[in-house]
Amino acid sequence: MQGPLFLLLLGPLYTVIQAQEISVNDMKTGIIGQEIDLPCTISSNDPNVHVSQIMWEKDGDHKRIAVYSPQHGTHIDDPNTYQLIKPSQSSATLRISSVSANNEGEYSCEVTLFPSGNRKATTRLAVIAVPENSAEANTEATANGEAQTVATCRSSSGRPPSLITWQTSLPGNVTTIMTNNTDGTYTVVSRYVLTPTSQADGMPITCNINHESTMIPIPLKLSVKYPPEVTVEGFDDNWHLKRNGVFLTCSAKGNPPPTSYKWKTFDDSPFPSTVRVKENILYVDEVDERVNRSFLCEVTNALGSRAYRQDVIVREKPNPSGAGATGGIIGGIIAAIVGIAVVATVILICRQQKKNQTAKDDEEFEGPPAYKPPPPSLKLQIEKSAEEVPLKPLHPPSETTDSQDMELNGKTPPKYQMTPESRRYSDFQNDYLEQENPIYNEFQPPENASPRDEQGFVMSPAVYV
Ligand SMILES: *[C@@H]1O[C@H](CO)[C@@H](O)[C@H](O)[C@H]1NC(C)=O
Ligand SMILES: *[C@@H]1O[C@H](CO)[C@@H](O)[C@H](O)[C@H]1NC(C)=O
Ligand SMILES: *[C@@H]1O[C@H](CO)[C@@H](O)[C@H](O)[C@H]1NC(C)=O
Repeated sequence: MQGPLFLLLLGPLYTVIQAQEISVNDMKTGIIGQEIDLPCTISSNDPNVHVSQIMWEKDGDHKRIAVYSPQHGTHIDDPNTYQLIKPSQSSATLRISSVSANNEGEYSCEVTLFPSGNRKATTRLAVIAVPENSAEANTEATANGEAQTVATCRSSSGRPPSLITWQTSLPGNVTTIMTNNTDGTYTVVSRYVLTPTSQADGMPITCNINHESTMIPIPLKLSVKYPPEVTVEGFDDNWHLKRNGVFLTCSAKGNPPPTSYKWKTFDDSPFPSTVRVKENILYVDEVDERVNRSFLCEVTNALGSRAYRQDVIVREKPNPSGAGATGGIIGGIIAAIVGIAVVATVILICRQQKKNQTAKDDEEFEGPPAYKPPPPSLKLQIEKSAEEVPLKPLHPPSETTDSQDMELNGKTPPKYQMTPESRRYSDFQNDYLEQENPIYNEFQPPENASPRDEQGFVMSPAVYV
């Protein structure tokens, strides 16, 4: 930048004294470990005035750090820290080759003019350090009812110290510790503390590090370990004698993920021959009195085992109300959706073939190939309708007619749920973990989930492989 232009831009920052101008920066910011120059220039338009000495002082009159005189040359008190760059009658730039925190302060450039006397201008030097920032979620946090650090955010070797804040929907407490490092920098460590529940697993949390008006957000996902949370789907309170192809699906969440699913009868007797178990699914080929019992699905992960008890009540005749009728309606809806999907697919395929035909025709007549592979939407459509097929066996069309025939006995079906007894069973079985984890009881499967939701839910066994 040219001198005059520089002056024009920074004009207000310069101190102007009479006809002899001593120009310095009012304010400079140095970064720890880097070099910085503090310029001091003298412009005199009076040929009778001479510069006899230029002196740099720090923090007041008595801390001389560098002197230059056209007659006697340069003297620097601490040459490892300070240098004068090409000193002359018109300039003496003070250089700090490696800025440290204790270089912070006020630097005065004092010029002795003959015969007019002394002139002085001051630069304030601020020293900063750019911190190193990091944040991490505590992967060892466990839903055990105890308050613990779930995330830690660190801003190391910054100056001035960083300000750390947290952003999350989970209520918790923040503990922040600041360390004053010997080099004048600060290390700030902030911890987010809460009593984690299984619901907190995977929740987002952001650490915001504010340094020198720059905000650095570091997004994290919480990790909370918890024992399996087990549910069983598939009992629709319409397991009547001779009904075919019913099944119970056991699903569980857990961190770490569940490693094993185990079906048993509640009284630990062997399974009847009509029952087949494959991974998390219990199939009943044909319902008879022998499945009129309670089944347990026990799921294990690294933190322990949890069981869900499913009471199966076998009916003599199909259940005319509730689940059966709802099943019919849902069956109808599903059939309609599948139907629409099939029709849509057929239409799409027809259209595509027509297009391909046209494309082929074009190709024959025009030479360059105009054909393009069918768009991905067609493929998706087919996959989607295929996915819906496994829902069918839950509600075979025969169920609909059966249930409509028998509206007489019209009782509301008891919803399957965790009975107090079964809860006690769980408690007993998992005594050790219950003690460690008193909040676990809150996470028993929902007792009043609507049957509609449950029937609409199909878990692919592949998920648990
Ligand atoms: C935060 O700290 C206060 C006071 O120590 C305590 O009462 C409260 O339970 C803590 N909150 C959480 C979420 O840990
Ligand atoms: C650390 O530095 C801060 C800010 O400069 C100061 O207020 C505090 O007293 C210092 N703490 C210690 C232990 O030196
Ligand atoms: C199943 O057991 C219940 C009692 O738990 C009984 O009322 C019902 O009649 C039994 N069903 C059959 C088909 O035996």
